[in-house]
Amino acid sequence: MAKRVAKIEEAAASPATSEKSSDQRRKQSPPAEERYAQELEFLRSWDSTKRPEGWTLSPQAVVTFICGSRNEPLRLAQGQDKENLPNSLVITEKFVGDRSLVERCVVTLAGERGLMLVGEPGTAKSMLSELLAAGISGTSSLTIQGTAGSTEEHLRYSWNYAILLAQGPGEAALVPSPMMTGMKLGQIVRVEEVTRCLPEVQDALISQMSERRLMIPELQGEIGSVFALPGFNIIATANLRDKGVSEMSAALKRRFNFEVIAPIAEHHREVELVRRQATALLEASNVQIPVDEGLLDILVTAFRDLRAGRTVEGWSVEKPGSVMSTAEAVAIAASIGRQVAYFPSQKDPLSLIPGLLLGAVLKDDAQDRARLLAYWDSAVKRRAEKSRNWQRLLELRRDLMQ
Ligand SMILES: Nc1ncnc2c1ncn2[C@@H]1O[C@H](COP(=O)(O)OP(=O)(O)O)[C@@H](O)[C@H]1O
Ligand SMILES: [Mg+2]
Repeated sequence: MAKRVAKIEEAAASPATSEKSSDQRRKQSPPAEERYAQELEFLRSWDSTKRPEGWTLSPQAVVTFICGSRNEPLRLAQGQDKENLPNSLVITEKFVGDRSLVERCVVTLAGERGLMLVGEPGTAKSMLSELLAAGISGTSSLTIQGTAGSTEEHLRYSWNYAILLAQGPGEAALVPSPMMTGMKLGQIVRVEEVTRCLPEVQDALISQMSERRLMIPELQGEIGSVFALPGFNIIATANLRDKGVSEMSAALKRRFNFEVIAPIAEHHREVELVRRQATALLEASNVQIPVDEGLLDILVTAFRDLRAGRTVEGWSVEKPGSVMSTAEAVAIAASIGRQVAYFPSQKDPLSLIPGLLLGAVLKDDAQDRARLLAYWDSAVKRRAEKSRNWQRLLELRRDLMQ
């Protein structure tokens, strides 16, 4: 025992971790093009369909990349095979939702209009825009995060003032925004939470969308404007629940095709997704604990009930003010896994649900605690008559009072 503890202390004392360069250490959340590098490379070899100019995959292959190959392995044909690639590969499902919606998104991005993804928070708008950019351009890094503090420079270019003072206005002093880089390289640019930008900043997108070029009046001649190359387009996201957002102008709306991203429709697909993503999160923190099936079912059911304000049995429940997003359910399932892993003797998993659910619900409106109690006194109570798990949950009502 003493030797083992000595080893642990030794390991803790050794700066092994810090010696590793930041590149060697695992990124917390690598971009899609890194996470799915092998799938993308495989698809580029496998894909023999015509690609729009500037695209790294054909429209069909982009959809397959995002929605998966329906658990069927794709096979490389003679001459397509590559040394470091398997001969066949199942492409994983990443976005759980309507395949035809993803097809519409891809078709939009091959056209003249931009793509606007709208929906409640936590419905995978950002994730989908990242996957689309990685599939189409091979990179999702050209991203502008919209905030109330965003300025037109964030959507155009700015200057390196030291060089500007030393050399005057010229390409050396120019600091391109992701928009300018996307136009220059013919790649997809993502504008996250566009409605958080002030209207006049949003409207900078109008000329960029219609003229597909960026003017730099400070520079003369050839370098005074950047024309968008084929493959350039914009994916913007906006969530419907944001407070303090700036309504988009009609002129801007006309430059985009809108797609509403709804929460996952089917219960079983949401359970499957929450399990898959919670397991991936746990593995990323080296926690090898299976996510409990019964618990998962209860967690997702409660989320869907409170999100919809109606249960599968048809009982109506009062919706809390906060969003009961899939993203939040994934986070809770992963927290439970960690809690069980780090404190195995303390609690059984199911008894952790009331406290974590309260944490998810009680964000803005104190009334939401009462709404959760009402949910317990109605749906949970009625299900408790027929199910041991719901019975146990009912017994934990007091945890909601803390
Ligand atoms: N339909 C879905 N398919 C796959 N993952 C989803 C889906 N809906 C929610 N998620 C999960 O929730 C997270 C949503 O996060 P995000 O893309 O930031 O949402 P949004 O931008 O809509 O607020 C994703 O990372 C994923 O873990
Ligand atoms: Mg988002």
